[in-house]
Amino acid sequence: MMNQKIKKFIKKKNKTKLVCLTAYSKNISVILDKFCDLILVGDSLANVVYGMKNTHNITLEIMKNHARSVKLGVKKSLIVVDMPKGSYTNSTIAIKNAKYLIKETKCDAIKIESNNKNFHIIKSLTNKRIPVMGHIGFTPQFKKKFKISGKKESDKKKLINEAKNIEKAGAFSIVLECVSEKVAREITKILKIPTIGIGSSKYCDGQILVTDDILGLSGFYPKFVKKYVELDKIVSKAVNKYKNEVKRVSFPKKNNSF
Ligand code: KIV
Repeated sequence: MMNQKIKKFIKKKNKTKLVCLTAYSKNISVILDKFCDLILVGDSLANVVYGMKNTHNITLEIMKNHARSVKLGVKKSLIVVDMPKGSYTNSTIAIKNAKYLIKETKCDAIKIESNNKNFHIIKSLTNKRIPVMGHIGFTPQFKKKFKISGKKESDKKKLINEAKNIEKAGAFSIVLECVSEKVAREITKILKIPTIGIGSSKYCDGQILVTDDILGLSGFYPKFVKKYVELDKIVSKAVNKYKNEVKRVSFPKKNNSF
């Protein structure tokens, strides 16, 4: 039986745009839950939280711990957890690890990146009723160099087939990362499941970005990111004020003491 939240999510295709963001912990997920359809515990936390140069060394245990924290703040949004690199190398391993993540975190679904070959892994997960989100285009677990996909004609056909195969394998949605506008538009038209774009134009069914990027906290602002606030400056101002008050002993006051 498909989770009701997932059914609701799919039904929104062609009715309203789907709002998605990443979260790695509770204090942020509480806020996102008021506005988002889907919250992704993305393995981008490798770069954003752990300062790693790529996502390759993130473990299942790290994903589990962050997903548990995110779950604490969420009442209504769909929570999807990224399966880390190496955790879905064959169907048996993928099923074991996906079951573990869902059981331990009580999240709704997992996301796996496509290498244009692992459709059978998605199929074996969905056969076990594990909800899967696909991910095509720039897939950091499999690609070393950043590139926009879908510019060349041969690329276009490949991406469309990849998306169709992911849908056929039973995924409930698919992330299109840095896919050209033309191809994103075509995939969105062809597929019945919602496409969620990141750097893939307005023609997707929904959008996702890394929350730390839109808040101005990550220091990473490629063309497809829009910074909605400069939280780095706001936090600096607050911390500087705290520092000054501690130095001149105007904090703590009597009412902060026991
Ligand atoms: O890990 C992540 O945050 C992601 C999004 C960029 C889609 O996969």
